This record gives sequence, structure tokens and C-alpha cells, in this order.
Amino acid sequence: MIIPVYKAFYNLRLNPFEITPDPFFLFSTPRHNEALASLYYGVRARKGFVVLTGEVGTGKTLLVRCVLELLRRTGVAFAYVFNPSLSALEFIRYIAGDFGLPVAGKAKDEIILSLSAFLVDRHQRKLATLLVVDEAHHLSAELLEEVRLLTNLETTQQKLLQIVLAGQPELDEMLDSYALRQIKQRVALRCQLEPLNLEETRGYIQRRLQIAGVGTDIAIFSEAATSAIFRHSKGFPRTINTICENALLSGYGRRAAVISPEIVDEVASDLRLGVVSSREEKKNGSSRAEKEQEKDELLRAVKTLLELHDYLQEMKLSDKKEATTLPREITEHEPYI
Ligand SMILES: Nc1ncnc2c1ncn2[C@@H]1O[C@H](COP(=O)(O)OP(=O)(O)OP(=O)(O)O)[C@@H](O)[C@H]1O
Ligand SMILES: [Mg+2]
Repeated sequence: MIIPVYKAFYNLRLNPFEITPDPFFLFSTPRHNEALASLYYGVRARKGFVVLTGEVGTGKTLLVRCVLELLRRTGVAFAYVFNPSLSALEFIRYIAGDFGLPVAGKAKDEIILSLSAFLVDRHQRKLATLLVVDEAHHLSAELLEEVRLLTNLETTQQKLLQIVLAGQPELDEMLDSYALRQIKQRVALRCQLEPLNLEETRGYIQRRLQIAGVGTDIAIFSEAATSAIFRHSKGFPRTINTICENALLSGYGRRAAVISPEIVDEVASDLRLGVVSSREEKKNGSSRAEKEQEKDELLRAVKTLLELHDYLQEMKLSDKKEATTLPREITEHEPYI
């Protein structure tokens, strides 16, 4: 294996800031622990439906992989869909295939039948079966319906198939929509991941360095550099990894045993972390303009309502003056303002 020279310079056995989600590198935060426990408990207690959401790069896939590692040891069989941009038939076929069921040349109905026989058999042997859909915010309405139908496979007491949906916050919004209320009602547990805070960012970097072989007494990133990493990454683990890896490369280039905040700032600027695309800016800009316009319209509407209210009040007063001469039923049917 070729070990890049910077690793030797910093006494690293392996790359500490790889961006592939490797359970080996898990750093525990209360949020991650809570989510891990919910996913694990949800499946073990046959809760049916569990949803994990979090912004891009907060560790959803990593957490799912950790849970799968744990569950594998307890005999849970799982199918793992990581790209849900499939047709309904492809989706069902993929799941059944992942469970090891024969799917070649079979129609959807046949596959569902053998899937359900498989689930019943596992259930009778007291074994849990799990379907994980990562990137679930990409699920089409058609596939969400398939997922819902899969949750219908149940005995009188328990769900035959446990389902974990992991995805970006749009998934929460999707599930909150009126059209998907049937699925939302079936969700037994929901958990969210957040970016790390400064202290967690410090611990995260240290932990990864230690796993890669750095002694606990050695600080490769100065305190100020760590603060700069937090500032530029906003605590998103994937961005922390990218900054740290590039900072180590740059630090090695300068033969710097300790990474300074200046190195981090330079790396962040090279990675264009502070740059928001003009399209994005335009989008934000236009949504800001839209919001301003909405506010204006709202103010105008309130003003009009107030004017109307005053006008009707005046009418009411003058009507009241005349009411003495009007029959009773007419005054009783005045509109209420
Ligand atoms: N708690 C953690 N401990 C160790 N590494 C973490 C942790 N959280 C995230 N990471 C690392 O951050 C990177 C991004 O994590 P991951 O791919 O799981 O994010 P994600 O939420 O699935 O992102 P996306 O929305 O883009 O799919 C990976 O390298 C992962 O190992
Ligand atoms: Mg992911």
C-alpha cells in the first residue's frame, strides 16, 4: 500500500480524514448516540417504521452502517437501498434480490408473494428483517406508496418488515405533506442529526487522529486552527474531513509540525467554502425579494381590512341610529365584524 508522504511526516498509520463513511471512525456525540439507540431499538423492538434525517454530510449513512453492523451480529437480515431512483418493479426486485430471493424473470406480484413468505418464515423463527432506504428524500411518490404497502405486511401483533428511511431534511417535509399522512402515521420513531459544535469538532478531529495512530499528547491542529476549522465547516463532519485532509497536505508542504489557523484559512479559501454560487445567491435573493413582496402584500391586505372594518363600523353606527325605525329581524341579521 502506498502511504502518501504526509502520513509519514505526521506519523499516521492510515488516512484519518477519509470521506467514505466508515463505522471504524465513529465519534459519539449525544445526538449520534441518541439516533443510534433509536434505530437499533426501533428495529429490535419491531417498531415498524423509523426515520432518520439530517443535513448533507452530518453522518446519516455512517450511522446506518453502524446500526447495520450491530444488527448483523444479532441475526437481523437486511436489504439496503442506497439509490432509490428506481421504478416500483426495480425497487421490489432489488429488495428481494438483496434478501437472497430469486427474482430473475419474475413478475412483481410473484416477487411480493415470495417476499412475504420469506418474512413470515423469518418471523416464525423469531428473526427480524429490515429494509433500509438511504437517500430516502429521493423516493418518488410511487415508491413511497410501495414502502407503505410493505409496512402492511404484518401479523396481528407485529410488523413483519422493519423499515428505516434515512435522508436529508426534505424527507421530513415530504412526510409532513398531507398526501403522505398515511405513511407519517406509521412512523414510530424519528431522529435527527445536527452538525457538531466547537467542542465536538475538537473531539472529532482528535478521535480521528488517534485512530490513525497519533498519540493523545500530540496536537497536530493548534487550538486556533481547530476554531478556524469549526468556523469554515460550520461543524459538518464531511467538510471537517475535507478541510483537515487538505490542511495536512498543505502543512506537510511547508514542513509544519503543527497546523496553524492561517493554513486552515488558506485551505478553506482554496476549497471555496465561503463562496455561495451565484445561482444559489440568486435563489436566496429572489426568495428574499419574494418574502419582501409577500410582506408588502400582507401589510396592504391588513390595511385594506382595517379600512373595511372602519367603514363597516361607521355603517353599523349609522344603521344603529336608524335601527329604531327598522323591524327587529333586520338588525338581528347584521353581519358580525
Ligand atoms: N459521528 C461521526 N463520527 C465519525 N465520522 C463521522 C461522524 N459523522 C459523520 N462522519 C463522517 O462525515 C462524512 C459524511 O458522513 P455521511 O456520508 O454519513 O453523511 P450523510 O449525512 O449520509 O451525507 P449525505 O446527506 O450527503 O448522504 C463521512 O466521512 C463520515 O465518516
Ligand atoms: Mg448519506
